[in-house]
Amino acid sequence: MAALRVPFLVTCALLLAVACQAHPYWPLELGFYRNKCPQAEAVVKAVVEQNLQQNPGNGAAVIRMLFHDCFVEGCDASILLDPTPLNPTPEKLSAPNNPSMRGFDLIDAIKYAVEAACPGVVSCADIIAFAARDASYFLSGGKVYFDMPAGRRDGTFSNDSGPINFLPPSTSNISDLISFFAVKGLSVEDMVILSGAHTVGRSHCSSFVSDRLNASVFSDIDAGFARYLKTQCPLDATPGGNDPTVMQDIVTPTTLDRQYYKNVLAHTVLFTSDAALLTSPDTAKIVVDNANIPGLWEDRFKKSMVKMASIEVKTGYQGQIRKNCRAVNH
Ligand code: HEM
Ligand SMILES: *[C@@H]1O[C@H](CO)[C@@H](O)[C@H](O)[C@H]1NC(C)=O
Ligand SMILES: *[C@@H]1O[C@H](CO)[C@@H](O)[C@H](O)[C@H]1NC(C)=O
Ligand SMILES: *[C@@H]1O[C@H](CO)[C@@H](O)[C@H](O)[C@H]1NC(C)=O
Repeated sequence: MAALRVPFLVTCALLLAVACQAHPYWPLELGFYRNKCPQAEAVVKAVVEQNLQQNPGNGAAVIRMLFHDCFVEGCDASILLDPTPLNPTPEKLSAPNNPSMRGFDLIDAIKYAVEAACPGVVSCADIIAFAARDASYFLSGGKVYFDMPAGRRDGTFSNDSGPINFLPPSTSNISDLISFFAVKGLSVEDMVILSGAHTVGRSHCSSFVSDRLNASVFSDIDAGFARYLKTQCPLDATPGGNDPTVMQDIVTPTTLDRQYYKNVLAHTVLFTSDAALLTSPDTAKIVVDNANIPGLWEDRFKKSMVKMASIEVKTGYQGQIRKNCRAVNH
């Protein structure tokens, strides 16, 4: 028996290795639309490029949108579904997304253009992934350039408990951060690398005033940076109320680069979750390396984005290709 089983196992492992080499992104695939809609990816990229000229903040928005989509029900565009009488509180309306998530208008514009080229073919989930990839390209001046496998299908379920349960709050400590990412199959390194997306975009004051600018809470935030933030933020900022925004990265606010890690080291970052990266030796080392070694972060960010974009994907006969990204097909 054992004599039989060993070669059998070896053969299986070999077959799997061959299959894995031929389909490294399985169940997703590079060039998924090459036959069904050859212009799909070019159309997405063109709309992103044009849209960012009018509304540069949408670049950061769709990078964040990929994160918030993939961590909740997998990368299935569940974040895009609007409320309906039967489903009055979708993900979109939950506290981690509302009112801070933006970029929905960009996704609509892309879907409109893609439907004009190839009706009913390209999923909204793939559109989010392509848009996040293209935004990374444009915001980095071409340095963060990578292929994005596709073949995701759109989900039909969206509930506001999902974002609460699966998205880490900005008040998270290092052990919380690690476990929120581990639950989705992402490593400690993926977590530190993807946090580097806080090199672009904005934050509402309410996301950090109560734990970072509060005299009765210890914070390691740089004193000068805190003084600046207090000129921008009311200390009682609340979501939906008087709640201005500030840039995530005060040094290079609109460039996707490794400046975030220099900011972490300088204690000029907004969130407890950003500062927490220095509180364990292994995450602190990743921060230092990314701050110091040019090109390292860009290279790893590409890989971690692709990995994040494959979380719990629906493919084949699962899900659907929505006609309108804001509503399930009827
Ligand atoms: C590690 C845990 C993370 C936490 C706790 C966190 C938290 C936050 C918070 C609180 C905001 C500000 C929202 C607002 O008040 O407007 C924000 C913004 C942002 N986040 Fe994260 N985030 C995390 C990871 C990520 C990841 C993995 C990505 C993408 C790869 C990402 C990309 C962004 C971007 C680009 C913005 C700016 C959005 C805009 O300008 O509209 N974040 N994040
Ligand atoms: C939807 O979220 C609410 C909390 O907002 C929760 O009470 C309810 O159980 C959730 N429904 C499903 C089907 O998960
Ligand atoms: C991290 O925060 C959680 C609460 O979110 C708490 O239960 C835990 O004890 C904290 N861990 C550390 C190491 O401080
Ligand atoms: C400051 O922190 C204390 C202690 O956590 C909290 O009770 C209070 O609400 C915070 N103040 C503001 C304005 O957020």
